[in-house]
Amino acid sequence: LLAGPDGRPLAGRKAVVTAGPTFEPIDPVRGLTNRSSGKQGYAVAAALADLGAEVTLISGPVALDAPVGVTRVWVEAATEMKAAVEAALNASDRPADIAVMSAAVADWRIDGVSTGKIKKKPGGPPSLALIENPDILAGVSAPGPKRPKLVVGFAAETSDLEANARAKLSKKGCDWIVGNDVSGEVFGSDGNAVTLFTRDGAEPWPRQSKTEVARKLALRIADHFKA
Ligand code: CTP
Ligand code: CA
Repeated sequence: LLAGPDGRPLAGRKAVVTAGPTFEPIDPVRGLTNRSSGKQGYAVAAALADLGAEVTLISGPVALDAPVGVTRVWVEAATEMKAAVEAALNASDRPADIAVMSAAVADWRIDGVSTGKIKKKPGGPPSLALIENPDILAGVSAPGPKRPKLVVGFAAETSDLEANARAKLSKKGCDWIVGNDVSGEVFGSDGNAVTLFTRDGAEPWPRQSKTEVARKLALRIADHFKA
């Protein structure tokens, strides 16, 4: 790999990574979330930093320490995550080099969050109205002066991985998609089997640890910038 200013391949490169679930409030004490542990995204942030990148990690609620040398920004709801991603991408005059959107963003939030705790009532349970969250990855991928040079999304699928991942690649406008078969053991697990989809092809990677997946992805990203 071609070395950057400090000898590491991604030295001088700026990266923004999202990780973990989002938490969508219902009322002050309850919320909607999902089973993402944040392990894969945290490993990607660590691997990019190891290669010399300046990494901002936008994280939903997880029980993980921030990787050494990585700036972490805590968020809860998807709308906060989107604002934090935009702030990180707009922080400098030049566009970020790398965006890796690995967060499991909740697809919906509650329409009309209650300011007080919702109480049980004789009439039965409340109905919760949902509205769709903004697609952070699609927003980041949209053409513009601050579009990162390389935008990588993840696709969590329980069936038809290739078709669904390819559809997301074109619909969202990102450059690569890491396709993740979540029908087996993924959530909270240390292992992961993924396929990297680019505009030119698909590379299935054997099941390996999330740390190894992250390392491999970071090296592919470094290769991309070398080319
Ligand atoms: N994503 C995002 N904002 C959302 C939803 C998803 O940025 N509101 C990102 C995720 O971080 C991931 C990619 O989009 O990088 C794909 O997420 P996924 O849940 O697999 O796809 P969706 O487009 O939400 O479609 P669906 O859940 O219906 O499969
Ligand atoms: Ca989704």
